[in-house]
This record gives sequence, C-alpha cells and structure tokens, in this order.
Amino acid sequence: MGFFPSLPTLILFTLVLNSALLFCNGGKTSVYIRKEEKTVDMPLGSDVFRVPSGYNAPQQVHITQGDHVGKAVIVSWVTEDEPGSNTVLYWKKGSDEKKKAEGKVTSYKYYNYTSGYIHHCTIKHLEYNTKYYYVVGDGHSMRKFWFTTPPEVGPDVPYTFGLIGDLGQTFDSNSTLTHYEQNPQKGQTVLFVGDLSYADNYPFHNNVRWDTWARFVERSVAYQPWIWTAGNHELDFAPEIGETKPYKPFTHRYHTPYQASGSTSPLWYSIKRASAYIIVLSSYSAYGKYTPQYEWLEAELPKVNRSETPWLIVLNHSPWYNSYQYHFMEGESMRVMYEPWFVQYKVDVVFAGHVHAYERSERVSNIAYNVVNGICTPVKDASAPVYITIGDGGNIEGLAINMTQPQPAYSAYREASFGHAIFDIKNRTHAYYNWHRNHDGAAVEADSMWFYNRFWHPAEEPASHSH
Ligand SMILES: [Fe+2]
Repeated sequence: MGFFPSLPTLILFTLVLNSALLFCNGGKTSVYIRKEEKTVDMPLGSDVFRVPSGYNAPQQVHITQGDHVGKAVIVSWVTEDEPGSNTVLYWKKGSDEKKKAEGKVTSYKYYNYTSGYIHHCTIKHLEYNTKYYYVVGDGHSMRKFWFTTPPEVGPDVPYTFGLIGDLGQTFDSNSTLTHYEQNPQKGQTVLFVGDLSYADNYPFHNNVRWDTWARFVERSVAYQPWIWTAGNHELDFAPEIGETKPYKPFTHRYHTPYQASGSTSPLWYSIKRASAYIIVLSSYSAYGKYTPQYEWLEAELPKVNRSETPWLIVLNHSPWYNSYQYHFMEGESMRVMYEPWFVQYKVDVVFAGHVHAYERSERVSNIAYNVVNGICTPVKDASAPVYITIGDGGNIEGLAINMTQPQPAYSAYREASFGHAIFDIKNRTHAYYNWHRNHDGAAVEADSMWFYNRFWHPAEEPASHSH
C-alpha cells in the first residue's frame, strides 16, 4: 500500500518541518580562516621555563584569593634544594611596617617523580583596594612581587576579570597569556576554568611539566590571583602506574579557600570579589543528589545576596551547552542535576572550558523535560545564564575544529580559534564582555556582548557583535 498523506497530515508535517528549521536556525559560525598549524609544547629549555637564579630560590610563585571576601591571599611557591623558609614578608605600598605570615610546606611523590618543597602561606586581614609587596625565600635568593587587593565587596564596584581555560604550555599557550597581559582592558583577576599543565599527556604523567607550567604562568599569577577550577587534566588518575589518588599533583600545588565557603573539598567553593559572587564547581567529582557537592551547592545558592554581589558567575570545566563534536553532551548529566537551580537563582553567566574552541550561547534553558513528557528542546529563557566555552587557551591537544551541523539555536557564536576573554563589570546592571583571538592584536575584539544583570536589569540584551 502506498503512502498518501491526507491534507491535514501534510499541513502538520509542513508545520513540524518549519519549526524544526526554525529551531535549527542557530547563531553565527565564524568564517574566520586560520592557517593549519600544529600545537607543540615549548621545549624544556625555553626562556619561559627558566629557573630563577640563586640557591634554593623560590620558583613557581602563584597567588589566589585566600578567604571568602577578598581580604586574604594564598601565596604559594616551590623551593628545590631544601625546604627553606615558609615565611612571607609583606607590606603596604608606601608603608615601612613589614609584616610576616607563616605558611606550611608539603611535597608529594608521583610514580618516579618527587616534587620540590611546595609552600603555601595565607596572608590575612589585608586592606581592600591596596597594593601590597611581598617577598618569599631567604638569604640571597629572596624574590619580591606585588598584588592589589580587590575593592570592598559591594553592589556597584567595577571589576575586570580575565578568562582563560585549558591553557597548557605550547607556543599558543604563551600567545594566549601574552595577549591577556597586553589586553588594554587590564584584567585584575583570572577566572581559570580548568586544565592547567597537561602534564598527563607525557609518559607517566611526567610531573616535571607541572613545574614548567607553574614557572611559565608565574609572570601573571604571582601578581594577580587566578581562581582555580579543576578539569579532567587535574585528575592524574593512573592506576597502571600505581597512582590511584585523583587530583594528587593539583591539590598539593594549588590551594583554594574552600573552607571559607563551607565546602568540604578544594574542588568546589565560592568567593566574593568586588561585585561578583563566583561559584566554582567540579565536573569530575560526584554531583548527584546527596553527594557533598550537591548538598553544598543546594545550600550555597540561597546565600547569594544580589544586593551585595549582583553578579552571579559560575565556573565549571565541562560545558553544558556545547555544539562542537568534541565532548558533545559530556556535561549533560550535570546540567540535568543543576540547571533548574541556575534558572531559579538567575545565574548571569557560566564559564566552562574542556572544548578547545570558543562558543557563546543564547540565554536558554532546558528544564521542562521529565521522563514522560518528551519536552527536551532548549528554549529562550530570560532567567537563564549565558553559557560561554573558553577552553581555547592553546594546549598541546590542538583546536576543536569539527562542529555539529547545523548550528543549534542555543549557540549564538562559535569559532575554533585560540584566545582569552574579559568580563568587565561596570556596575550592578551592566558588564561588558569580549573575546579576543590570538591571531589578532591584543586589543581587537572578535566577539563582544553587553551583559544585563539578571537580578537588577533582566531585560533582553542588545545584539552582540562578532567579527
Ligand atoms: Fe578538559
């Protein structure tokens, strides 16, 4: 029997087809053409990996926020010859009064690698909006750095965040970091969305590449805090060589102020900084109901006071809205667990990495589905965050070039180029966001958008600009 559809069936079919076409009419896929080039790690002898001179000189110096509100800083560094001093000497710019803070030293073994002496020292009770100098090391090998504390937490405090993800230590990684440093918008703190060194791509996860990475990024992270998110390359889970404790190198080397936000794990936590409330999640820790991360996040979101910190930002490694073929749907189960909360609490923006490319979503949600209703299409939602994938730091694994076709409606802009982004908070209602590809000069914006705060100004944002 042949198939002769009735007129109503035909009309219905046409309607379905039309709506499907409408849905598939996504945003913009960049036509930017870049030359094919392989990403390779900088060789061990590169100047960016240089060991500072002097006996037991502190190296791999890095700082991050050390409390919940921005009045403390964790200073970390490594000494190779002997433990040496755990003391950080610090003082306010223009002040003669030098203060001391005592830290602790740790080390670890990983397969046939033994780490140097890893120091962590929290400096507390700092004044807001103040430049501090600090010195680590002793004798002739002391090294001096500086940082500026954020302004006091408050609703209309401007603040500029940089965004970097999946950085690694290739020539492209160096280009990304250089672009960030040279960006005239002057990021004050980096929100790092995971996958730091890619040491695990080396035989036996050669942890020497954790050391080289930390020396490479010192030129930025010794002077401004980087807020750490853990990615899959931080796991270093390798039972075949007897390494069964996940996150061993990462958690020894990079401390986070997790206890200040009531978290029980350094892998998820929150901080307030200026007018932003930043929640860091862990894609590779349990997140289902009753798990520690779930219970923490459930209790955490109601604590965010948008009259104090209007901007609610989430960092996560594996993206929930990703239209590249790489890692497609990997973030799906976490999305199912937490997305209703993000809509309920009006998260402004979610930054993720993992996919080695750039993508910015529309404000969409996909929370209507249950196992019988079949409603599983993302819809425009004014209460939903914008999802940004910024895993384009330039690591050794190369660019994610293949995209799902056609571009889904939730995807506003996507481009397979290395780069970094800036989230520049102006006041409680407005933030200016822009993304910079490494192929351009540091000041050139390849994608930009004005963010309207979801709590204070939940209007539809003007059309974005992509070049
Ligand atoms: Fe990743």
